[in-house]
Amino acid sequence: MGPQPDWATQRLQRAVVLNEETTRHGRSRPARGLSRAEVEGGGEKIPGLAARQAAAKLLAAVVDAHTPLDGLTDHDHGHPNFRALEMRDRSLVRAILATALRYRGTIARLVARRLERPLPPKAHQLSHVLHVAAAQILFLDIPDSAAVDLAVTHAKSDPRTARFSGLVNGVLRGIARDKADALPTELDRHDDTPEWFRDRLAAAYGAGKAQAILAAHRVEAPIDFTVKSDPERWALAFGGIVLPTGSVRVERLAAGVAELPGFAEGEWWVQDAAASLPARLLGDVAGRRVADLCAAPGGKTAQLVLAGAEVTALDSSRNRLKRLDENLQRLQLPATLVEGDALKYEPDALFDAVLLDAPCSSTGTVRRHPDVPWTKAPEDIAKLADLQSRLLASAARMVRPGGRLVFSNCSLDPAEGELLVAAFLAEHPHIALDPIQPGDVPGADPFIASNGAIRTTPADLDLGRPEISGLDGFFAARFLRLP
Ligand SMILES: C[S@@+](CC[C@H](N)C(=O)[O-])C[C@H]1O[C@@H](n2cnc3c(N)ncnc32)[C@H](O)[C@@H]1O
Repeated sequence: MGPQPDWATQRLQRAVVLNEETTRHGRSRPARGLSRAEVEGGGEKIPGLAARQAAAKLLAAVVDAHTPLDGLTDHDHGHPNFRALEMRDRSLVRAILATALRYRGTIARLVARRLERPLPPKAHQLSHVLHVAAAQILFLDIPDSAAVDLAVTHAKSDPRTARFSGLVNGVLRGIARDKADALPTELDRHDDTPEWFRDRLAAAYGAGKAQAILAAHRVEAPIDFTVKSDPERWALAFGGIVLPTGSVRVERLAAGVAELPGFAEGEWWVQDAAASLPARLLGDVAGRRVADLCAAPGGKTAQLVLAGAEVTALDSSRNRLKRLDENLQRLQLPATLVEGDALKYEPDALFDAVLLDAPCSSTGTVRRHPDVPWTKAPEDIAKLADLQSRLLASAARMVRPGGRLVFSNCSLDPAEGELLVAAFLAEHPHIALDPIQPGDVPGADPFIASNGAIRTTPADLDLGRPEISGLDGFFAARFLRLP
């Protein structure tokens, strides 16, 4: 790929709601940071400092302790440093972290270039301070001087990093000075994610497609809606487009989802276009008894109920089932909810059809969750694939003879998809693959693989503009229980 098009940077810049005080602070102060005494005397009062401190702490939690970012940045149960922030600082922290993780390799190389020798292990926290600042300097609409100044003050505020504050100043000023020349060259490389992840993508998809997927991971995903009816009307209302799959796609929302027209009336729900495919693979489910075995938060349950099925929605997580309940109530789409383990669940009667949208590594959602490659490891994929195999075997026992079973997940890894299905079929002679046919699901034909399953990646669905292109990575296979 040539130099990274400007849209990537511009889009990130638009994404950040600037903290006005931070900007003013940055413009009016000399970029020297505050002394330790000044910081200790009133650190929380320095505009923007607490946000940078929280961002560095959360970055450490993600890359060092492999803690998923969603939990850390939850408004009710997230990290205390995050919850202590004002709402707009929380948005800023989220934007900094998403950027720092999306471009982690690029940022690491630009930082390393400016260091005479690697940072000592004792100063490991310093790398997080530098990454948080570099993410702002390179990609966000925050004045360089503000980012540098706050990083210097931040370094001084921590006894482990205080003596490196001069180095922080020098490194970050250098990055700011050279970014116009250095950044495009670095962006030509696509090694922002850990090596294990890149290697597995290349092994699964070949070097070219793997690179296209990695490029797509740098772009924040658009927002897709599944609408109950009249997609054209909602596309018009939201300023979006209707995709070939029938989903409505919006590049960016001006307001929160709950403020959009039709939310309270339950006219639509947010669901990636790829995630809308598996439930539809069950075909005409009107009047059929259908089990949705890993159901929460309920996007696929809603599709099945809307299609006229009598749905039993099962999930092992009480909290997530509660969310599913709230979602279905808003959508006015009733289902029977069961809190339980799909490995052990024994229905009173076999189902006409079963959907298993299994828990997985989520490597298909890196555009939305750039922490995933940093919080997961190959061992997790192996463990999750094992769990999915057991769940699939259990799901197969719940389908009546002649009934359909769909297995899906949002992983890009064949160990959780193609390979798992091949092994499952070999071990279950009473189950046959029911290959997905062209025309089965509108708009899905381009994603039907030669093995009869559906495979999507973020590099698919090229709509001409990267910011409205792509799909979550999904795998879906359909089976028949033989009579
Ligand atoms: C990928 S999510 C499902 C998303 C959902 N199908 C949708 O479309 O909104 C996986 C779900 O599986 C649930 N889960 C994990 N292990 C389970 C088990 N053994 N039995 C039932 N549910 C399980 C999780 O709580 C999680 O809600």
